[in-house]
Formats: sequence, C-alpha cells, structure tokens
Amino acid sequence: MDSFILPKEPRLCWNSFFSDGVTRSPFNQFGNRPAHYLFWARNAIYHGLAALAVKPGDQILVPAFHCATLVDAILQYGAEVQFYDINADLTPNFSHIEDRIREKTKAILAIHYCGFPQPIEEFRTLCRKRNIYLIEDCAHVLPGMSDGNLLGSFGDIGVFSLRKFFPIYDGGLLIINNPDLKLNIVLETTNPFLSLKILKNTLERSFANRQWSRAVALASVFLKIFGNLSTTARDARNLNSYDLSFDLHAVNRGMSWISKKIVEHTYLPTLIARRRHNYQKLSDAIENLPGVTALYAKLPENITPWEFPLLSERKNLHLPLRARGIPATTWGGVIHPTLRLESYPGAQFLYDHLVFLPIHQSLEEQDISNLTSGLRQIVTS
Ligand SMILES: Cc1ncc(COP(=O)(O)O)c(C=O)c1O
Repeated sequence: MDSFILPKEPRLCWNSFFSDGVTRSPFNQFGNRPAHYLFWARNAIYHGLAALAVKPGDQILVPAFHCATLVDAILQYGAEVQFYDINADLTPNFSHIEDRIREKTKAILAIHYCGFPQPIEEFRTLCRKRNIYLIEDCAHVLPGMSDGNLLGSFGDIGVFSLRKFFPIYDGGLLIINNPDLKLNIVLETTNPFLSLKILKNTLERSFANRQWSRAVALASVFLKIFGNLSTTARDARNLNSYDLSFDLHAVNRGMSWISKKIVEHTYLPTLIARRRHNYQKLSDAIENLPGVTALYAKLPENITPWEFPLLSERKNLHLPLRARGIPATTWGGVIHPTLRLESYPGAQFLYDHLVFLPIHQSLEEQDISNLTSGLRQIVTS
C-alpha cells in the first residue's frame, strides 16, 4: 500500500456543507430528463446500452485511451467493442472514427477527459449523419459544469461518476436525453452490511481526525465476524472501491443513501473554487519546469477539473512521484486486455506519458507546494 504526503482523495469535513442558503445540487441540473442513480458509473453505462436498445453483436466505438472498466461494462452487456484512437492532445481522431463505422455500429462513446469538453458538437453531427447514438461519458465531469453548455446533455445518454468529485464511496448517474428512449431499472437498495461498509468508509474519509476511529474499528470487527457467517456480509466486506472490475451480479445496485445525502448537501461553489484554484496554482508553478507540460495551461471558465493532466517527456513519471509520496496516477495499468495498443499510437503515447495529478478540494496551499517541489526535484535531477 502506497503512503502519501497529501490526501489522495477529497476528505469529508463539516465546512464543505456550509452554504449561503442557495443550494445548487448536481442532481437537479438536468430538469425533467430521466435520471437513474446507480452504484458506479460502469453500471450506468451498462443500463445506458439497454436504453439505446443495443442488441448482442451490435458494436460500440470506444476510445483506445480509457479505463478498462467501461469497456467491460459494454462487453458484459453482450455488445462488441471497436476502438478508435485519441490524439496526443486528448482530442479524438475523427478520421479513425469515420473509418471504423460499420453497419453494426450502434453508438460512439466520447469521454470528456479530466472534465475538459471534447468537441461534442462534432461528435453529435457525425452521429446524426450516420444514424448512430452518442454516449457522453462524463465520468470526469461535475454535473452542471461545462463551458457554457451543459456537458452530459449532448449525448443520447450521459453518464457521470459522482465519487470522483465528492468524498463518497459510490455514485453513478445515468441521464437519458433522447426523449424516444425508455428505460426501467428495478434498483436494488443497499443491504445493511453494505450500508455499514459505506458508513465505515465514509467515516474513514471524515474530518481528518481520530474522533471516528472507534466507530470505524467497531464496524470493521462487525463486518469481519458476520463476513464469516453470511455471504452478503462477506461480499460487502470484500467490496473494494478501487477495484475496477465489472460485477454483473451487482449491476442493478443503486447509489447508497449516505452518498446521495453527502452530494446533495455539499456546497458546490466552495468545491468548485477550490479545485479551480488548485489547478491554476499548479499550472502556474510548473510553467517553466523542464520536460513537463500542462495539457491545458489555462482553465476555461465553467470547468471544474477532475485531475490535472500533465504531459511528460519521460515515461511513467507517476512512479518516481509516488515514491515521493505524491498520489499521481496514469491509465497504463487499466488498459483493456482486448486492445491491440500497437495500432493506436496516440493512445499508446498517452498511456506512457500522461500523468494525472490531484487538485481536489481537500488539498491546501502547502499540499500544492509539496506536490510542485516533489515534481521539480524529479524533473531537474
Ligand atoms: C472515463 C471513465 N468512464 C467510466 C468510469 C467508471 O466509473 P466508476 O468507477 O464510477 O464505475 C471511469 C472510471 O474511472 C472512467 O474513467
């Protein structure tokens, strides 16, 4: 287990709930459009395919630069996946996409990487021209945040992963934008063992002090004892939010009550301002560092970034960063095994050279300084 000098993920703290009385929940950004709250975004992709009436053997075009779990959701649904390349600046390779459209192509999936909008109008025009659906993967987007337009409202369906922005264990959202699509999901509520596990995990992320440690220890003991007696408790105990595998048996699991409440009551302006501030501070600090470049040096208005995408000349920069306690990541370890990477030079470059750095709302000025100086030491040594 890596140990880090700055928090890897947002923490839950009281002041994230303080508001000026004006609530702006990410849940009410899409008006009356049908919204389904699922446990993970991967489950939302799976059910989204049902809404699009995808049949076994239909094909979905998916970016070659991806997190494998979204590919698994499509394959486990029974559809085929065809990959298209992503350029080194994270834009889609449209000529690659056009070349790959076949009769059986039912939908194209577009990812707004790190919360930065893709040329989504271009995707939409292409899909309309070729009579195929558009799946807008907004797993890295805070619902409601976009560059003047509402990301997640362009695709026939939009998918969000709320747990990437909030200190929560679970949370996926499926928005159905196309009025011709119908979807009924009988959601499974979280069983008491899983609720306990989620509560324990929430407390672990909480308040950055030890006041909850007894409750956490108690919940662990309880799950351990019952995990030996009941399968449901064992499944809850073994569930790991960092595990990116796709579990078909849990595909109907709904978002937990605890996570929903945390999202509903978080005061968004503070969260947004903090993430934007951290992003810009990091961007300014690394401007003149050798061998690394911010993919987006300036933050456009209305963007709430998920992470900071950094291009590095050297491969696997995340490894020395992690060795210094900086929770940097890449997607090099989450490439879907069916992808023949040598045919996708853009994606291959990104897996090797694009590093995601944390800029979340729980990082303080000192954390960003520590991150910057760790990075400086590595790239100048
Ligand atoms: C682009 C993208 N889509 C979908 C997902 C799946 O999200 P979740 O972990 O909530 O299932 C991820 C996960 O990292 C992702 O990066």
